[in-house]
Amino acid sequence: MTNEDDMLVTPWEVKGTIDYDRLIEEFGTERIDEKLRKKIEKIAGESHILLDRELFFSHRDLDWVMKEYEKGNKFILYTGRGPSGDVHIGHLVPWMFTKWMQDCFKVPLYFQLTNDEKFWFDQDMTYEQVHELTRDNALDVIATGFDPEKTFILDDIKHIDLMYELAVKVAKKVTFSTARAVFGFENSMNIGGIFYPSMQAVPAFLHSWIHERKTPCIIPCAIDQDPYWRITRDVAEKLGYYKPASIQNKFVPGLQEGGKMSSSDPMSAIYTTDSPKKAKKKVLAAFTGGRTTAKEQRELGANPEICSVFKYYTFIFMPDDKELADIRMKCVSGDILCGACKQILVPRMMEFLEKHQAAREEAKERLHEFSADKLRNLVRK
Ligand code: TYM
Repeated sequence: MTNEDDMLVTPWEVKGTIDYDRLIEEFGTERIDEKLRKKIEKIAGESHILLDRELFFSHRDLDWVMKEYEKGNKFILYTGRGPSGDVHIGHLVPWMFTKWMQDCFKVPLYFQLTNDEKFWFDQDMTYEQVHELTRDNALDVIATGFDPEKTFILDDIKHIDLMYELAVKVAKKVTFSTARAVFGFENSMNIGGIFYPSMQAVPAFLHSWIHERKTPCIIPCAIDQDPYWRITRDVAEKLGYYKPASIQNKFVPGLQEGGKMSSSDPMSAIYTTDSPKKAKKKVLAAFTGGRTTAKEQRELGANPEICSVFKYYTFIFMPDDKELADIRMKCVSGDILCGACKQILVPRMMEFLEKHQAAREEAKERLHEFSADKLRNLVRK
């Protein structure tokens, strides 16, 4: 997906200025409108800032799943992570929202760790690295606070016995030409990568397969994963399952100018493993919408729309709408300078990381509680 501004949104790369309206149109998803937002809020019994602030903005079939839920037909949740390195704050956004949905709707969550994907798609990744990162990233998943009774962390390589029957069924229904059209595969792609989209489809059907009952599925994720859902939805009914629904979020931008989080520039993202001190340094060095001089900023105000610090407030760190509106007003009117504004984010970020890191430590003893190992007892022999 490219345009004149070189916007690129694929499951592997996101760059340029993201035009979300255009993504909805070109991906063929639907906007989450006021009516649907209100419906979710009514059924969930409360609202969520990521919905209210339209940071979850796009969906497929979510209205249908909500209607089914009202009729008593419960859904399952499915989300995931490709363990390619440390987890950053942006990755946590769909997970926090997924946790909220699990808490409100009391439904199972299938969480896929796609170590096969990262091994096949990153030429430099060794098997040992991807194995280690799978365990390490699982700690972040658990630290998000999911319900162990209702959460099944699938490690693609370790749990292939649970997943392979469905993967081969999906793979038979997807031609190479479809996969190439959707993902842009080139001849140099290894054959593991070409097979991989069938693995990412599996958790959408796994509950239905295990329990031998068609069950609706909602996938919360950023919109970059949508190509996978096109393939998954294409094959669903052919295999006797419902098409999975999805609810899609916008991207938390990088901290440097250009808005991209890049693993080659560690200052561009805050990782959950960063020490609070290191995170503080990153926030203080972040790109903002400020003017070149303090005098100019006091006179003309700054631009929160392009400011990474303001984005961090909007996504996670300023849940109070009044406080957010207030800081926005002070920013555009020049009443607050960027240094002072960053000083508000710093302690919030540090506290967030301290809490998350303590939960990560505890998670080391709890991996088995969340593992999809427990599904093995339920699977037909
Ligand atoms: P991965 O590891 O690239 O990303 C994990 C999740 O984070 C979302 N995401 C972001 N959200 C907000 N701001 C950002 N800057 C940002 N960057 C990434 C992604 O959309 C994703 O939801 N192939 C997948 C792994 C996967 C998966 C899934 C993801 C397997 N099954 C089901 C979502 C749902 C991947 O590599 O995600």
